[in-house]
Amino acid sequence: MGYAPNPLCSVCHGAGFVNPLTLDGRVDYSKYVICPAPDCLADSKQHYRETGEYLELKGVSSRLQTFSAFKVRQGTEKAVRAFHDLTRGNTDKAFLLCYGGNGCGKTHLCQALTSELDKRGIDAHYYSVPALMRTLRESISTNNTDEWVKSLTLMGGLILDDYGLGRESDWTEGCLEEIIDARWQEKRITVLTTNRDLAELSPRIRSRFSDAEMSVIVHISANDYRPVKREG
Ligand SMILES: Nc1ncnc2c1ncn2[C@@H]1O[C@H](COP(=O)(O)OP(=O)(O)OP(=O)(O)O)[C@@H](O)[C@H]1O
Ligand SMILES: [Mg+2]
Ligand SMILES: [Zn+2]
Repeated sequence: MGYAPNPLCSVCHGAGFVNPLTLDGRVDYSKYVICPAPDCLADSKQHYRETGEYLELKGVSSRLQTFSAFKVRQGTEKAVRAFHDLTRGNTDKAFLLCYGGNGCGKTHLCQALTSELDKRGIDAHYYSVPALMRTLRESISTNNTDEWVKSLTLMGGLILDDYGLGRESDWTEGCLEEIIDARWQEKRITVLTTNRDLAELSPRIRSRFSDAEMSVIVHISANDYRPVKREG
């Protein structure tokens, strides 16, 4: 599906792009912008960003895991604030490390953040680390590891959930360290969650998330939400 201009648009006549006006009201023929007319390309693109199809491409599997569906329970307050700040671009710290036990809400907050960033036009992607590591290992045989590493390094937001669940090889751990280091140098939005103790993280990764100028570390002390879900 995707998005498309309106072929009957009276502003761009279906081209989807128009020349913008300069500040003094003249047409600037040297530039093109996405057509802002109602029902045309800008509208269509915004609508598409809110569809399940688009979010799935970004790794968001549950559209129900939004910020508004997240109850600010005791022990989640600091994390909620940190995720909100990143969502709204309300912070100059691009790195966030969130840790806590099973069911405390880490994945929920990551999914909510990813879709909100994408709505803001930041190319963000959610990955479960074990699945991403599998993809990286498989990329060796298809010869596109470099492309993967490059795209993971450059994307606007990289949301990495479930770090430290599986035993990673030195090679995959090294890949992840390389990606995180490059993103840290460029101050790109990078989130990592784990239910491990911070002492168990790779020292190179822990060190970058411990950079107080660049990163926030939050612990969620709330207990498992799964058993209490039904009580609403
Ligand atoms: N504060 C909350 N408000 C509403 N729903 C919540 C809250 N916390 C967790 N949930 C829900 O409970 C379930 C478990 O949460 P989630 O998957 O985010 O936990 P997790 O921290 O990622 O756990 P794990 O470490 O086992 O992966 C999800 O369905 C999530 O939507
Ligand atoms: Mg989870
Ligand atoms: Zn148009």
